[in-house]
Amino acid sequence: MYYIGVDLGTSAVKLLLMDGEGKIRNIVSKEYPIYFPHPGWSEQKPEDWWEQTVEGIRELIRDVDRSQVAGISFGGQMHGLVILDREDRVIRPAILWNDGRTYEECDYLNQVIGKEKLSEYTANISFTGFTAPKILWVRNKEPENFARIAKIMLPKDYIAYRLTGVHCTDVSDASGMLLFDVKNRRWSREMCEICGISLSQLAVCHESYECVGTVLPEIAALLDIPDTVKVAAGAGDNAAAAVGTGTVGDNRCNISLGTSGTIFISSKQFRVDKFNALHSFAHADGSYHLMGCILSAASCNKWWMDDILGTADYGAQQASIEKLGENHVFFLPYLMGERSPHNDPNARAAFIGMTMDTVRADMTQAVLEGVAFALRDSLEVAKSLGIHPERAKICGGGAKSPLWKRIIANVLNLKVDVIESEEGPALGGAMLAAVACGAYASVEEIAAKVVKIVDTVEPEPELAAKYDAKYAQFKEIYPACKPIFGLIKD
Ligand code: XUL
Repeated sequence: MYYIGVDLGTSAVKLLLMDGEGKIRNIVSKEYPIYFPHPGWSEQKPEDWWEQTVEGIRELIRDVDRSQVAGISFGGQMHGLVILDREDRVIRPAILWNDGRTYEECDYLNQVIGKEKLSEYTANISFTGFTAPKILWVRNKEPENFARIAKIMLPKDYIAYRLTGVHCTDVSDASGMLLFDVKNRRWSREMCEICGISLSQLAVCHESYECVGTVLPEIAALLDIPDTVKVAAGAGDNAAAAVGTGTVGDNRCNISLGTSGTIFISSKQFRVDKFNALHSFAHADGSYHLMGCILSAASCNKWWMDDILGTADYGAQQASIEKLGENHVFFLPYLMGERSPHNDPNARAAFIGMTMDTVRADMTQAVLEGVAFALRDSLEVAKSLGIHPERAKICGGGAKSPLWKRIIANVLNLKVDVIESEEGPALGGAMLAAVACGAYASVEEIAAKVVKIVDTVEPEPELAAKYDAKYAQFKEIYPACKPIFGLIKD
């Protein structure tokens, strides 16, 4: 049997075909545009997601026996607001996870409703990218659109809806809406009231590995797959990535270097940090996780390479980096503002420390190091909660770079386990589909079978010590720049 994992990302949808033994048979990627209609805003068209997903699935399974396709599931970019009217038509472009427009609504939620109440209702506080402040933004700024809302969905759930006709979501993605009582794994009535919406506008919430329906006959015909193919709820991309890297069960850690960067710690127990600096979300394996998220990670390197240096040869640029741990140049990676732990949509990226002898390689290195330092900020919060991971898995496009993995291992002082495939969310999606189809009894069981560690990047004591000293300097830069970010915001 075959299982399809759909990773509905920010720059592209990745589709992965896995067989019943957990072997990856094919991977296809299809890009779509992202729109920045104002500085700090970020939108996509759900129709683009759907068209590219259909194209991608057709290409993915072109050369296999399509009658053997049994299940489809997802890892999806989290928090995005998709709103449908009574006829299930998309009302406006989706507002994405890295969109910073809702700072006034966030202030209202965090200051007027209050962080204590938000944390009591949802285990989290408000960040601009979360879904509830976006609903308030639509209510405040686009009342005519707000009045038309019949259904509120997350990005991957829109694809599940187009495949099955069912309005559904899953516990891990729902956790990032600030409408979900994470501890009890159900919608929060209080938050619905605060946002002026009703429970009936929200989708039915499932565990990630549960089947939500089968593909509609016309979709089965379009994709040339059996109309018995099951669709599983799937997970937010970080929880799906954690499944794909075997970060399930208790106290395991995964680092994702995608458009965003995350540090994800699985936990059998529900827990919340005192200042809600880390997100406390439900996990796709039936348990919970803590997560720190920076809004720009591999996207910083992509921006620096593609847009600024104008090169596609990332390897050649990284080859001239020699002085690890000795760079005088620092980079704040806040190209889209910052989430964890600063929660500052006005934060911006910055290079600092250049001298006349600074060369291009120092700046490229600073970009890679800045992302690692920013992830360490979240690791430090986890440590303050008594969580001291010794090792982490790694996935995402940035994990393809041996140099970046070495920097991560040394800046975070973690053993970094490299797995066979860095396609975390897409593989995790396929694995969730296999569980939903009954091929495996649980997410933990399939993870134990499928995920294989092929290498470990060990921290080097001398280099880790140098990076400790550099991190102490990095930590001072954001607080010093913060007042300036306030001045230069548009
Ligand atoms: C997590 C987050 C990002 C997106 C990226 O909270 O906002 O990692 O899920 O797709």
